[in-house]
Amino acid sequence: MKWRLALGAALSLAMLSTSAMADDGANMFLQKCGSCHVKGGQATPVNPADKASIVWNKFFTRGRHTVDFSQTVSVDDLQVIVQYLKDHAADSDQPAVAVIPK
Ligand code: HEC
Repeated sequence: MKWRLALGAALSLAMLSTSAMADDGANMFLQKCGSCHVKGGQATPVNPADKASIVWNKFFTRGRHTVDFSQTVSVDDLQVIVQYLKDHAADSDQPAVAVIPK
């Protein structure tokens, strides 16, 4: 079973680095949101395609995120990330499902 884990890790690293190169927002999302939202982390994995773009649009401004991350995610960072989430939301042209592996 170990080799499958290793292969899975290598594959997700490859996927992470490709998407990071393709997209600044993806990079920031992985870095900032991924610090908590990873498998085995303090929060469950999240991905852009988990929600429709209209939901992402309001999620943070309406205070739906109950955990304060203002220490690590600046207002500017959040703007870039939300744009990225909307660009790859469930109802977008290019939904991104497995950015952070579930
Ligand atoms: C300091 C840790 C932390 C950071 C950083 C963080 N979150 Fe969260 N987030 C949580 C916790 C804890 C919850 C509630 C428990 C859960 O859903 O796993 C949560 C909940 C959520 C939910 C609700 C889950 C759902 O299915 O509706 C979403 C969406 C979400 N976060 C997105 C993000 C995004 C996007 C970022 C980056 C801008 C982010 N979070 C940054 C800790 C964090």
